[in-house]
Amino acid sequence: MNIQWYPGHMAKARRMMQENMKLVDVVIELVDARIPLSSKNPDIDALASGKSRVLLLNKYDMADPKYNELWKSYFEKKGFYAALINSKDGQGVKQIKDIVYKACEAKIERDRRRGILNRPVRAMVVGIPNVGKSTFINSFVGRATAKTGNKPGVTKGKQWIRLSSKIELLDTPGILWPKFEDPNAGMRLAFIGSINDDIIQTTELSLELILFLDRHYPDSIKNRYGIGVPGNLNELRDCVPVLERIAIKRSCLMKGGEPDIDRAAGILLDDFRNARLGGITLEFPQDYEALPV
Ligand code: G4P
Repeated sequence: MNIQWYPGHMAKARRMMQENMKLVDVVIELVDARIPLSSKNPDIDALASGKSRVLLLNKYDMADPKYNELWKSYFEKKGFYAALINSKDGQGVKQIKDIVYKACEAKIERDRRRGILNRPVRAMVVGIPNVGKSTFINSFVGRATAKTGNKPGVTKGKQWIRLSSKIELLDTPGILWPKFEDPNAGMRLAFIGSINDDIIQTTELSLELILFLDRHYPDSIKNRYGIGVPGNLNELRDCVPVLERIAIKRSCLMKGGEPDIDRAAGILLDDFRNARLGGITLEFPQDYEALPV
């Protein structure tokens, strides 16, 4: 399955990102813990060159606990300050201020030697669409904040949120584009719902998902739908009977009583995207150890 996705405003997004990047010391990059590499922007290393880097594995509540820590170590080994977070309920978010500050220690020390004292570090949040940037910013910022900049009649420019005497955050996140040139990444992004379903064939996508689940999480479909899954699923057409069984179980039948596999496909994708099949990770660190991030 080949998914091509060219967001219309990519060039503009890139320009804005470059402008904003000049203003910050540290980049807080969000990825999705279920697909940490497929949800990582391919150009961010070049864009953020020379900046301190923090990598947050967001939505870890929806990923497989077995792989969460392994992914965190993976990124730490590649030189990132990394953390697992659930922006929706705030899990892991409290520690991020310390991590951001720690990531900037070398810069703070350089400033100190040049006689610059007590200047807050400036941070921005970046990530591909739907990765949870706004939810994270809300959770990170909490209630006790004051906005600086853009006060009427005083300053024009960026809005900075003062998180403490030590950290200021740019209030608008940088939107990055995903790895649309990699078909596997495209498919995983589609699985989690980050690509508009209008431009993909959802029944085919759900067959791909069944193939993956059968290989890596063989009980997930059985447990969710209470159906037997036929053995030896090797290709997409082998997975059609699974959709048929889901359709029958969920009473999705067409006029003649035939199972409606398109509706079953929608149910499966929706269940997966809402973690009703359990915490599932779609790519595994051991497959990428040897590659640069
Ligand atoms: P963005 O700014 O990067 O585009 O993403 P945004 O914050 O809008 O989040 C996209 C969706 O992901 C939202 O769900 C949000 O609630 C959910 N989300 C963000 N962080 C987490 C997390 O850590 N765990 C889980 N489980 N979900 C998270 P939505 O369906 O668009 O809205 P809603 O159902 O929350 O209203």
